[in-house]
Amino acid sequence: MASPNSLLPAIFLFMIFMSCWYLGGSQLSHAQNDAIKPGEVLGYSQRLVSADGRFELGFFTISSPDRGYLGIRYTNDTFNYRVWVANRDKPISVGEGNLTMDADGLLKILHNGGSPIPLNANKTAPNSIATLENSGNFLVKELNPDGSTKRMLWESFDYPTNTLLPGMKLGINYKTGQEWTLTSWLTSQIPSAGGFSLEWNLTTNGTRRLIMRHRGDTYWLSGIGISSSSNPGNLVMPFNADYYNFSYVSNKNESYFSYSAPGMRISRLVLTSDGQLTDFPNLAFVSSIMCFGYSSAQGCVQQNSPNCRNSSQKFEQRRGYFISSSPHLDENLSVNLFDCMDRCWSDCSCVGYTTLRNNGTGCRFYSGDFEEDKTGNLEQFYVLTDMPKTGEPRRKKGVWWIWIIVAPVGALAISILACFLWRKKLHWDQERDRESTLFTLTSSRRSGDTFEIKNDGKGGHDLKIFNFHSIVAATDNFSTKNKLGEGGFGPVYKGNLPEGQEIAVKRLSRSSGQGLVEFKNELILIAKLQHMNLVRLLGCCVKGDEKMLIYEYMPNKSLDFFLFDLQKRELLNWERRYNVVEGIAQGLLYLHKYSRLRIIHRDLKASNILLDNDMNPKISDFGMARVFGRNDAEANTQRVVGTYFCV
Ligand SMILES: *[C@@H]1O[C@H](CO)[C@@H](O)[C@H](O)[C@H]1NC(C)=O
Ligand SMILES: *[C@@H]1O[C@H](CO)[C@@H](O)[C@H](O)[C@H]1NC(C)=O
Ligand SMILES: *[C@@H]1O[C@H](CO)[C@@H](O)[C@H](O)[C@H]1NC(C)=O
Repeated sequence: MASPNSLLPAIFLFMIFMSCWYLGGSQLSHAQNDAIKPGEVLGYSQRLVSADGRFELGFFTISSPDRGYLGIRYTNDTFNYRVWVANRDKPISVGEGNLTMDADGLLKILHNGGSPIPLNANKTAPNSIATLENSGNFLVKELNPDGSTKRMLWESFDYPTNTLLPGMKLGINYKTGQEWTLTSWLTSQIPSAGGFSLEWNLTTNGTRRLIMRHRGDTYWLSGIGISSSSNPGNLVMPFNADYYNFSYVSNKNESYFSYSAPGMRISRLVLTSDGQLTDFPNLAFVSSIMCFGYSSAQGCVQQNSPNCRNSSQKFEQRRGYFISSSPHLDENLSVNLFDCMDRCWSDCSCVGYTTLRNNGTGCRFYSGDFEEDKTGNLEQFYVLTDMPKTGEPRRKKGVWWIWIIVAPVGALAISILACFLWRKKLHWDQERDRESTLFTLTSSRRSGDTFEIKNDGKGGHDLKIFNFHSIVAATDNFSTKNKLGEGGFGPVYKGNLPEGQEIAVKRLSRSSGQGLVEFKNELILIAKLQHMNLVRLLGCCVKGDEKMLIYEYMPNKSLDFFLFDLQKRELLNWERRYNVVEGIAQGLLYLHKYSRLRIIHRDLKASNILLDNDMNPKISDFGMARVFGRNDAEANTQRVVGTYFCV
């Protein structure tokens, strides 16, 4: 018994569970207080909450190794970003510290591991109060004896970390010399200062713009701002202007950029450790990938590249090993992956890199030939690759001696294949008939719908019927080296089409349960489904009893591969997990509710969740899916399906 509605409550429960999880994190304290006065203490697990409940200030922990920081975040930010960190360079032991204001009005973090960390040094007065404002600003002010404000002493907005909140300033105060600049975290898990900065400053032609720099090099510029003398002009920003109201002020006292986001409960501009500028919910407006190398698109500043590099080269993630080289190490743990890329690009002998430590710091640089491992078990590196110009086949790098082994095997394979083909040739016409019957079947079953696969090789949904020989060639005759895994209905191989496109080929084994019915099922279903969280079917291939489904290739394999591996699990930080969960839920919602057919997957498990380059989840394997009429609320299925778990 299966009901299309039975999964929806499950998803809801899951979502509720997730949100409770978040709230659990923020309910550690019941001190619904937004201020701290001389003599008061905020313990490690206590929180200051702004009067409107939007922001909270408290200690938080980052693990492996465990470190404690004092920070501010949006109470309801599901991504749990810290918009400000007090002690980014001086983490404390977890659970031990507290924040206190002494009798002189000095805010300081006390901890067992060393001397107190002052926040408002030299900006103190005895009768003070520190308040977490509704703007997210942590403000220290001196009070008059009657309790009214005498003057502002210190504010966290003057010491931005990597985040610009609405109302914060980026620029310079000419009177005090105070500069407001964003500095990225070193990695997404290490708050200490990284290589990127964002400032509002004069460019060489005398106009003020937002300037992103990487270790001093200008990397990205916003559009023209105001020139030092004229009235505000239009600041060209890649942001959606409907949500933001940008302003820039320049007078004899100060010059700054700031913004407001009327009507948005959460808004933040974050300078990430890899040089992206993102907003909530984490959409990138400036991206390091977009800007690296030769790009001068959308404000990117073209970097000086050495003569040995050209614009068709870039670094790609590959698994494998470098044949002859031992790496050249950079043991400076204040550099991150982006620094490694930048340096490798500038060094003509470098063809690959990765970080030195698991936490994303330090570098290892390689030279020499790289041998790719198609089984995907070896370590992952960033490898310099030449992108073929369209139409030009990908240049294959290899080692000559491999051919001594491969050639006889290949010759044997070819002769067997030739023999096989010769025998099969007799049945050629018969098979063409079978193919066309299959596709007539698939299209006629849903007559009235726009879906059809014509037998001209192209389907109404861009489904391609691949030639068997091209699949044999693409997968190296289904070599074990290209095998990605074993699905429920047969092995899956990686393939390279001559145009350079990477594909995944699911070869349905004859002995498997997936017969023609399941094959057609999967074909029809996926061809009709268009959603970013469902894996895309490119086409199929039928040859006699051989049935194959051709999918887009997912470089990061499946979720189980990460979940059940102690080291890879570390890569799934909270943000990624959230992203994966949300993606799966979106995909299911689409299947159950918004697609033109009502579909129950019936075999959802971690190994059927594939991950693309950016770790976006895509649901795959529709062999057991079941279609329900739009109006069926319930239906009986004939067999029990899914994956059996034995405990
Ligand atoms: C945009 O910001 C400016 C300056 O802060 C303000 O005067 C104006 O009213 C704002 N406009 C909108 C539509 O919020
Ligand atoms: C480590 O790298 C950072 C960033 O490039 C640099 O500022 C620092 O001086 C380096 N430290 C050493 C010891 O070389
Ligand atoms: C990163 O890892 C290395 C060694 O594993 C360690 O020495 C270093 O302190 C770590 N950095 C941070 C900021 O945790």
